[in-house]
Amino acid sequence: MYKSAEFMQRFKSVGQKVQVFEHALVLKPEMISLADGARIDDYSRLEGGKGLNIGKCVHICTFSSIYGGGSAEIGDYVGITQGVRLITGTEQIDSVMTAAAPPHLRNPRAGHIVMEPHSFVGANAVILPDIVIGEGAVVSAGAVVTKNVPPWTIVFGVPARKIGIRPKQPIEELLAQAELGQFQPVFQMEIPNQILEMR
Ligand SMILES: CC(C)(COP(=O)(O)OP(=O)(O)OC[C@H]1O[C@@H](n2cnc3c(N)ncnc32)[C@H](O)[C@@H]1OP(=O)(O)O)[C@@H](O)C(=O)NCCC(=O)NCCS
Repeated sequence: MYKSAEFMQRFKSVGQKVQVFEHALVLKPEMISLADGARIDDYSRLEGGKGLNIGKCVHICTFSSIYGGGSAEIGDYVGITQGVRLITGTEQIDSVMTAAAPPHLRNPRAGHIVMEPHSFVGANAVILPDIVIGEGAVVSAGAVVTKNVPPWTIVFGVPARKIGIRPKQPIEELLAQAELGQFQPVFQMEIPNQILEMR
């Protein structure tokens, strides 16, 4: 089931056919924008922080989090899969490293993460603050990304390293077909009630 209409009104903006499931943990929704067709699954954690913009048809899967007190820009058609951590800000090693400590003992740093359109992060990968994941780039399951990832590049491992190139042409062809009306985007489909009840 979904968040109530009352809760959805607390977001900064909400597009058409947006799905935010009931058990998603959403903090500071007034800092979060959700574009058409965005889907936020149960048991994910979204923190509005200093601003969180979520693009068209972005899927944020169960057990993934966008958190840390900074900001993030998630482009259209981005996939954020199960258990992913987008860490937008962090405690620093020169100070006490717990948010429960008094403020004068801490020195948290707020950063900014960008996931450009069509990029993808595999299960349980970690993206550190101030990283840009380029257009169409793929972060493998379990990777820890410490440096920017160039567009249409595949990275894996800890720390993440380039292992290949993702071809751009098939995605461009799919999008061209969509523009010609040869298929409908997923967010125009209705989800049958019995499927929602299974979640
Ligand atoms: C990165 C990824 C897309 C690569 O897919 P691919 O191009 O089909 O690559 P392959 O499966 O052919 O593997 C290529 C090599 O990378 C290695 N590899 C694949 N995924 C890896 C990962 N996550 N970490 C480390 N190595 C990995 C393979 O062992 C293989 O090594 P080899 O050449 O020595 O045998 C895929 O492995 C991945 O991690 N996908 C994420 C899946 C996911 O989390 N899905 C969430 C639900 S949608």
